Amino acid sequence: MRIDIITIFPNMVDYPLSDSLIGRGRENGIFEIKVHDLRNFTTDKHKVVDDIPYGGGPGMVMKPEPIVEAVRSIDPDHKAMRLITSAGGELFSQKMATDLAKVRWILIVCGHYKGVDQRAVEIAHLREVSIGDYVLTGGEYAAVVMADAILRLIPGTMNDFGSAVDDSHFTGLLGPEEYTRPEVFEGIRVPDVLISGHHENIRKWRFENAISRTQTRRPDLLQGVEPGQELKNKQIG
Ligand code: ADE
Repeated sequence: MRIDIITIFPNMVDYPLSDSLIGRGRENGIFEIKVHDLRNFTTDKHKVVDDIPYGGGPGMVMKPEPIVEAVRSIDPDHKAMRLITSAGGELFSQKMATDLAKVRWILIVCGHYKGVDQRAVEIAHLREVSIGDYVLTGGEYAAVVMADAILRLIPGTMNDFGSAVDDSHFTGLLGPEEYTRPEVFEGIRVPDVLISGHHENIRKWRFENAISRTQTRRPDLLQGVEPGQELKNKQIG
């Protein structure tokens, strides 16, 4: 697995992806992350990457030439799955992360300013992806979020892949409450069932807890699911 990220702020991407489990996975060669400075693909003296929008209005638009040049030079034979971060893109999800974790090579362009010249999106075949319904100053954090969500699913990245399977959203539900030692903290006890050693009861408790949390916090995730149907294919704990 290889992820290339094209950005005007390489440190914003490289640094967070050099620490913790992703940094270790990178060091251990479980996957490769290459960060490219978009300005290296400009041809003018001032390395300009943006310009005013046609039609007027505030903000700047990313020029198409450096983006197309960068994508073509990094992926000349179009072997990579090409993405671009955009608040107007399709919504990134656990499902998309799982699908992308099966792809051998992903290239992410970090969008910026008011947006990107549409011709770059079309010519470079960039799939526009948003990480949520809010606007960031740029696509760097979005690229980091996507890379993290994808790479943690690559076998060998996590110490315990089983814990990814238990995650919120992996099963379509939010994850259940979790507890660790001490057994009593500031007068609050860990639920008895979790210290009972009874694996079937623990599994049931976690599942019911996950359903009730999902119902309260994210009822939208259960929409269209018939009562009881959410039991299918759901293994929690
Ligand atoms: N750029 C600005 N906001 C964004 C978002 N929510 N997702 C992806 N890229 C963005």
